[in-house]
Amino acid sequence: MDKAQQDALKKAAGIEAAKLVTDGMIAGLGTGSTVRFLVDELGRRVKEEGLQFTGVTTSRRTQEQAEGYGIKIVDIDDVDHIDVTIDGADEVDKNFNGIKGGGAALLWEKIVATNSNQIVWIVDESKVVDTIGKFPLPVEVIPFGAGHVIKKFEDKGYKPVLRLDAEGKPVRTDENNYVVDLHLERIDHPQDLAEDLITTVGVVEHGLFLNMVDKVIVGDPNGPRVMTNGNK
Ligand code: A5P
Repeated sequence: MDKAQQDALKKAAGIEAAKLVTDGMIAGLGTGSTVRFLVDELGRRVKEEGLQFTGVTTSRRTQEQAEGYGIKIVDIDDVDHIDVTIDGADEVDKNFNGIKGGGAALLWEKIVATNSNQIVWIVDESKVVDTIGKFPLPVEVIPFGAGHVIKKFEDKGYKPVLRLDAEGKPVRTDENNYVVDLHLERIDHPQDLAEDLITTVGVVEHGLFLNMVDKVIVGDPNGPRVMTNGNK
């Protein structure tokens, strides 16, 4: 699949998911190239249909895009609930275990997701996999002592790589932390790995989102299809 085809599938999933946002809702807005299409469509509906909703965003990038459309964005602590959060993902398997954080927004994404009544992911079909882990697993790490955390990951065979920007400097998250990507190739025991990562001092959060999502809208050449999680 070339990029144009992939973008068309992402866009179709984003437009489909935008239908889930209705007047008066509080909606969590994720991060990434698929979510950009979602926010474009929500912006169109605000302008052309008078849709009124309040958004909570998972990154400053999404906040800027949404506010550019006149969408009202508030701080997560200014709302007592979030009706639905729509976000992208890097990989998802049939057990609804996924990897997120390719765009370095995993910490805010997980905070918004865990405070949402419903979680929906929008992906193109290439992201639905048998076993997660081919996509490098992002881990958000405090800069102080990050070298020691990376060494511990190396010793465990996690193949960590500190994420750098185009100028060769460490990428900083919206919380000013580093991102370390683990090149695991496959993750057979995601729960065990999640436990190991989150109990490593210096790790703030990891990109394993295990059985959290309620529904995945998959951009498919035959039209968007929905995978519903019956085990949540
Ligand atoms: C952001 O940190 C990520 O979790 C994204 O949601 C994920 O990487 C999907 O991004 P794309 O929609 O750009 O593929």
